[in-house]
Amino acid sequence: LFSAVEMAPRDPILGLNEQFAADSNPNKVNLGVGVYFDENGKLPLLKCVQAAEKALMDAPKPRGYLPIDGIAAYDTAVKKLVFGADSEPFKAGRVATVQGLGGTGGLKIGADFLRKLKPEAKVLISDPSWENHRALFQQAGFEVDTYRYYDGATRALNFEGMLADLKAAAPGTIAVLHACCHNPTGYDITPAQWDQVIAVVKERGLTPFLDMAYQGFADGIAEDGAVVGKFVAAGLSFFVSTSFSKSFSLYGERVGALSVLCDTKEEADRVLSQLKIMIRTNYSNPPTHGGAVVAMVLEDPKLRAQWEEELAGMRVRIKAMRKALVQGLKAAGVKQDMSFITTQVGMFSYSGLSKDQMVRLRNEFGVYGTDTGRMCVAALNEKNIGYVCESIAKVV
Ligand code: LMR
Repeated sequence: LFSAVEMAPRDPILGLNEQFAADSNPNKVNLGVGVYFDENGKLPLLKCVQAAEKALMDAPKPRGYLPIDGIAAYDTAVKKLVFGADSEPFKAGRVATVQGLGGTGGLKIGADFLRKLKPEAKVLISDPSWENHRALFQQAGFEVDTYRYYDGATRALNFEGMLADLKAAAPGTIAVLHACCHNPTGYDITPAQWDQVIAVVKERGLTPFLDMAYQGFADGIAEDGAVVGKFVAAGLSFFVSTSFSKSFSLYGERVGALSVLCDTKEEADRVLSQLKIMIRTNYSNPPTHGGAVVAMVLEDPKLRAQWEEELAGMRVRIKAMRKALVQGLKAAGVKQDMSFITTQVGMFSYSGLSKDQMVRLRNEFGVYGTDTGRMCVAALNEKNIGYVCESIAKVV
């Protein structure tokens, strides 16, 4: 039965974790996967999460099946976070939200639904994009192409290219856009540039799909989510996937969501009914724990304030590590100007290092980043940054 099954290549991101785990180098540093580690190199368990978990443990509940679309209070909390509690779409009930298995789960539910709705549409992702975007939309049955986003020669954004490629897209094309903290480059477009993108999306009749996996890691929760308000103001229907993996440090709980903004409540009800079919036929309904924790933290004013503070702490520390990286590389003898690292935001720096250099970093020094040159600066700390800088200096 399986004699013709080919060995698939390792996942370009999660596959690095396997290789890292097997590496016996005592100095190894994992800058591969997008995970935040604290100043001691430890995965944090947020205090707000611990408090919510304690409250849940103090009043234990039996675990029946959740509704197909997840915990109602969670879905409402997500709508409020993404669109605003006072926003017209929330109040009018024209957002369909389902709990998803992480941001990836939200993307896949949306992709499967879109494939049924618009089987002939093409998907455009940024060049480069999160490695899994292409695979996920292809797996859903779409042809996936790219719009220009980054210029390797200048190590900067190619906004003119992005706009031109979106302008040239056929009506109905699904445009996957990074709401904030672009993965992998770390370069976001400005609010004024978003206005231009939205105008093109509207003019060309594209279907926007915002991936918001890093809300709160660039400038703040409201600031990073502001682009959603711009799409609302433009009168567009669109998709938003949300991830709480990073912002709650709940990677293994798979907590995320998909929200679809529709024209009316009646339309949102019909869309929701279809999203539920996608969920039911894939995994039936989502798990309880992570969603219950996030819903409690988002809705309890004290826990919410604590979460915002803890998230701000992660954001500030990452920014400090970016500065330290630029200084450390200079001190280690890197002649090139690496100051672009501090203009990038979120968890990643697109370092501009070649695949050969990244492979050398991994094999000779145990410093893991992706082959494309992406490094997770959120995994740097005072103890490992010197070693990382010296290693980079030796390969460039
Ligand atoms: C990443 O880009 O490293 C993260 O989003 C983790 C993942 O699932 O790839």
